[in-house]
Amino acid sequence: MNVLVTGGAGYLGSHACLKLLEEGYGVVALDNLANSNSKSLERVQKITGKTLKFYEGDILDREVLGRIFSEQKIDFCIHFAGLKAVGESVQKPWEYYNNNITGTLTLLDEMRKAGVKNIIFSSSATVYGDPAQIPITEECPKGSCTNPYGWTKSMIEQILMDMYKADNEWNIVILRYFNPVGAHQSALIGEDPKGIPNNLMPYVTQVALGRLPQLGVFGGDYDTPDGTCIRDYIHVLDLIDGHVKAIKKLEDNSGLSIYNLGTGHGVSVLELVENFIKATGVDVPYVMKDRRAGDIPVCYSDPSKAERELGWKAQYGVFEMCRDAWNWQMKNPKGYEEE
Ligand code: NAD
Ligand code: WQD
Repeated sequence: MNVLVTGGAGYLGSHACLKLLEEGYGVVALDNLANSNSKSLERVQKITGKTLKFYEGDILDREVLGRIFSEQKIDFCIHFAGLKAVGESVQKPWEYYNNNITGTLTLLDEMRKAGVKNIIFSSSATVYGDPAQIPITEECPKGSCTNPYGWTKSMIEQILMDMYKADNEWNIVILRYFNPVGAHQSALIGEDPKGIPNNLMPYVTQVALGRLPQLGVFGGDYDTPDGTCIRDYIHVLDLIDGHVKAIKKLEDNSGLSIYNLGTGHGVSVLELVENFIKATGVDVPYVMKDRRAGDIPVCYSDPSKAERELGWKAQYGVFEMCRDAWNWQMKNPKGYEEE
């Protein structure tokens, strides 16, 4: 069985390529390297001792998609490709809608032309907006997103649902990720954001490294036990394991399904920092700052549907997430860039 992994060179995509190779799947990765480095895929091949096929190209480019489907026998697609910086999406809405939505529409069209109608889509807990209930189940109504990035996820979900309604030869799994962090234990692949990180864990690892002076904690006056926001951090290896389980589901012609991928445990910003210091022995100086616009106080999943239907449950805790994120950052202080 062969899997097309769009966005395969990225943070989550590279971990997926690695796991799929280990599980015996053939892997075809497509990435335009807009936010990644092809070294991630070289390292995936080094770790596994197996080869994958890499196409440097864009999901908006019908020629490259057509070439992939004619040159390779693809059984499933895991669709990670997309732009994901929340703040940037507010500045560049057209670029985000075009890349993420037009890109997905183009991919879906080329897939159906090629008769490949099995797809796993990377969605996000952001589609719940300010969630109507905690913990968040898949039945929780989708909410109003605070940024174009979030809307692209919400709209693509709707597109996939309507495509399925019109043609139930499609098998579609929508996975709503909570907050993926950590890295493969080899410390050869990991998260490598360009510029100053927006997300908490890469910011923490760069402060620990001394590349950034201190962490700003966005808001200490939320209605939470320690006043800081609560999130559901999930180890990237658990998250990717959920995708392998989702492929098995597609193999059963499962139609359309939606799952949360989270641990079900809420962790505050300060708890994450404490865990990081405990797991690594490295200090992380921080200062309290004002709230960040658009942040919701509490967001964590009820992941029981994925456990019931996919037989999937997260195995790693925050300690391992911090340990592995740090190992990667420490051994690759500039990410995939040469020292
Ligand atoms: P990433 O930026 O590391 O990976 C995305 C990859 O897609 C990058 O390698 C980028 O170069 C590629 N890409 C972007 N536009 C493309 C295009 N038009 N054609 C081909 N390739 C393109 O991000 P990630 O963290 O690995 O996220 C993967 C997916 O998961 C994204 O869709 C993201 O929105 C989604 N997601 C991520 C998180 C998270 O916190 N990391 C949370 C929820 C959802
Ligand atoms: C986590 C917590 C911040 C940085 C975002 C996207 C979501 C999904 C995952 C991806 C919050 C606090 C952060 C810092 C801080 N996206 N924080 N100081 O906002 O839950 O989710 O990433 O593709 O769609 O919205 O994650 O890591 O940015 O923040 O105090 O320097 O850490 O306020 O409470 P978030 P995050």
